[in-house]
Amino acid sequence: MQQSLTAHRRDMQPVKILLDEGEIPTDWYNAVADMPLPPAPPLGQDGRPISPDALSSIFPLPIIEQETSCDRWIPIPEPVREIYCLWRPTPLFRATRLERALGTPARIYYKYEGVSPAGSHKPNTAVAQAYFNQLAGTRRLTTETGAGQWGSALAMAGQMFGLKVRVFMVRVSWEQKPSRRTMMESWDAEVIPSPSNITASGRKALDADPESPGSLGIAISEAVEEAAARADTCYALGSVLNHVLIHQSVIGLEARKQFEKIGEHPDIIVGCCGGGSNFGGTALPFLADKASGRQLRMIAVEPESCPTLTRGYYAYDAGDAAGLTPLMLMYTLGRKFVPPRIHAGGLRYHGDSPLISQLHHEGLIEAVAVGQRATFEAGIQFARTEGIIPAPETNHAIRCVIDEALICKQRGERKNILFTLSGHGHFDMSAYQSYLSGQLEDAPYPDEAIRTALAELPKISPQD
Ligand SMILES: Cc1ncc(COP(=O)(O)O)c(C=O)c1O
Repeated sequence: MQQSLTAHRRDMQPVKILLDEGEIPTDWYNAVADMPLPPAPPLGQDGRPISPDALSSIFPLPIIEQETSCDRWIPIPEPVREIYCLWRPTPLFRATRLERALGTPARIYYKYEGVSPAGSHKPNTAVAQAYFNQLAGTRRLTTETGAGQWGSALAMAGQMFGLKVRVFMVRVSWEQKPSRRTMMESWDAEVIPSPSNITASGRKALDADPESPGSLGIAISEAVEEAAARADTCYALGSVLNHVLIHQSVIGLEARKQFEKIGEHPDIIVGCCGGGSNFGGTALPFLADKASGRQLRMIAVEPESCPTLTRGYYAYDAGDAAGLTPLMLMYTLGRKFVPPRIHAGGLRYHGDSPLISQLHHEGLIEAVAVGQRATFEAGIQFARTEGIIPAPETNHAIRCVIDEALICKQRGERKNILFTLSGHGHFDMSAYQSYLSGQLEDAPYPDEAIRTALAELPKISPQD
């Protein structure tokens, strides 16, 4: 032990790389400005590009402007920065104890977003969305939540800006995570299991399967349907769309400064990927480095049971199960695909961010899919070396990081690996319990269910 500590001191690197509050970015970064090709436009049900007005029944104007913006920098309003100060800048840790346990020459760094009040990266956009909605006169927000992380974040943010929040929570997570419900209710949100019988989309899903575990796609339909029907209500989405990736860029922008402080730069950036905002927020602020010729790999990690980027089609599809949203060009498993019940509820989404999808399609980012048990094995190894017990979603990133660090060991390469520890797993003890007692299973790759769902893709090809 003494020997290894001395070895670490020889590195002359701190374990925590910290920034001052004054170093919280003043502007968010919009990767659209640095994309090699312009993003494909969203389409209406008639297959024609939609006008920004088409979004105005569910989003306030400032959000629509960000969604369609090509500006590289978007100012962070002072009231949002003030709230960011409650937990930002987040620390960048060097995982020296994990490195030693693996015996790897690689250096592993993680940006810890679990220090936010809701316990994940989600408040970075929840606070911004609540702020812009309040500014535009919105009174109520509806949303969906998978793992409960996004719902918690929006409940907190809505309460800070005096907005009522209704959360449609995917039924399987509602059952697995009663404490997340209580957390949202503590921030005064109303939580409804989805599919519910209070919306037409929910009733349709229940007619098809009265025992439906729900999915993010179905919960989005319920929340969008309600927002579109009420003048006082807007919809807030926790991932996928450009404005969400813009808000999450604070993660990568801070990480850049932290790497500058130690005179290093990442060689591999890893993030778990549900709708893509955690991965995109971390990796995309480094996109220009890659374009300027720096060797940099960016790896999005998803579950084997919901392998959107690795096994989906690159096609126009709706963002929700009922087909209420505009069509987006993205990797999709089909909007009606209901993924198997896995514990990483935040990764059970049939589609992906159009920006991340396009970058993957153009070969700028990589994607891998990993099995549930292997992710918990990685999460436990992390907890037993670094102390933090990660969210099941984050365990996907950690699996990939450990695998990459072991490849570095085999090859004797000293690479810098950065990942975002997107959330803590304090509300996920039943999942850890089931892993530790040997009962956690790998959800099978749902080949047949994906084939069926893909058969219903809208007949629009990317070239049209
Ligand atoms: C802890 C955690 N990490 C990652 C994700 C996936 O996030 P994204 O949709 O931004 O890819 C989620 C989604 O709920 C989450 O809760």
